Amino acid sequence: MLGNTTRTFLLRTANSQIKRDLHKPFVRIIEVGPRDGLQNEPVHVPADVKVEFINKLSETGLQNIEVTSFVSPKWIPQMGDNIEVFTKINKKPSVSYSVLVPNVKGLEAAVSVGAKEIAVFATPTEGFSRKNTNCSPEEGFNRIREIVDRMKSLGQNLKVRGYISCVVGCPYDGYVKPKLITSTCEFLLNLGCYEVSLGDTIGVGTKSTVEAMLKDLLKLTVADKLAIHCHDTYGQALVNICTALDHGVRVVDSSVSGLGGCPYAVGATGNVSTEDLVYMLHGLGAETGVDLKKLIDAGHFISEKLNKPTDSRVNKALYKKYF
Ligand code: HMG
Ligand code: MG
Repeated sequence: MLGNTTRTFLLRTANSQIKRDLHKPFVRIIEVGPRDGLQNEPVHVPADVKVEFINKLSETGLQNIEVTSFVSPKWIPQMGDNIEVFTKINKKPSVSYSVLVPNVKGLEAAVSVGAKEIAVFATPTEGFSRKNTNCSPEEGFNRIREIVDRMKSLGQNLKVRGYISCVVGCPYDGYVKPKLITSTCEFLLNLGCYEVSLGDTIGVGTKSTVEAMLKDLLKLTVADKLAIHCHDTYGQALVNICTALDHGVRVVDSSVSGLGGCPYAVGATGNVSTEDLVYMLHGLGAETGVDLKKLIDAGHFISEKLNKPTDSRVNKALYKKYF
């Protein structure tokens, strides 16, 4: 899965900000728990709890944390405290604190509080696009163009990451053909996204559908432009992530404690848990820069605050051993 050629490739592409064992391949993790995880929580989580949660995540060695979204608070009330959360968190220079934005209004609010990296999200299927963003896919793509144009006119050298939702299945339109994902990815890369994250929004993907999607994408671009973002509704996330690793993908999104989902995607449960992902990657001989014990502590903290058991198998297995 992580052979010699891959190792050489990883050493070339790995982020140089943290100290690493140069004999081990590196997989970068994007922690989306504070955004994708908490956006689906029905009861409001106080901003101070979110800040403490993100500060704990910052201490784990993660290099990328998606901390909130600047979407309409009428649509996602849980993210209505975005300014307070973004401004109160301790920002370590080694961590990129990205935020999700749906339109120019969200971009301008994010920039006004100092966001340096934003994420845009494209949905190529009609059903989910309308439910999640109240527009057709084409209108959604136009909004993304407007965001990027506005970003350029602001001239602040912002980084932009792209998401594609429903990469193998849409909760409303069913199976999604690989060609549709490839053309959406081309659109995002041409706009200037430095990386495109492939979202299995409702976790319906299997090894074969994920493989078919990746094979088509790899005719368009190289694997180091891609990330994988698996919700774990059907328990396929780790298998699908391994499939992506096999195809050279080295960036994986995950959510501590397996939090997550999208209120507008029927059947979407949490992302793959970061604890389970790190355990698996370390077991495969990869390096992540993440301290599993500190991660387990962060996962336990947020599960207690949400008053629910963790969805991470590794957290369940190791918390009592560690603490
Ligand atoms: P709309 O209602 O069509 O927009 O929503 P609008 O332009 O008519 O505005 C309605 C109201 O919202 C107005 O306020 C706007 O000012 C306000 P009013 O005049 O009525 O008082 N508004 C905003 N306020 C703050 N920040 C903003 C903003 N924009 C408008 N940025 C819209 C369209 C896109 C805004 C809405 O549908 C929306 O916010 N959707 C986001 C839904 C969302 O966050 N979903 C979850 C994230 S995506 C995801 O989870 C998938 C992912 O994880 C990958 C995967 O798993 O596949 C990324
Ligand atoms: Mg998601």
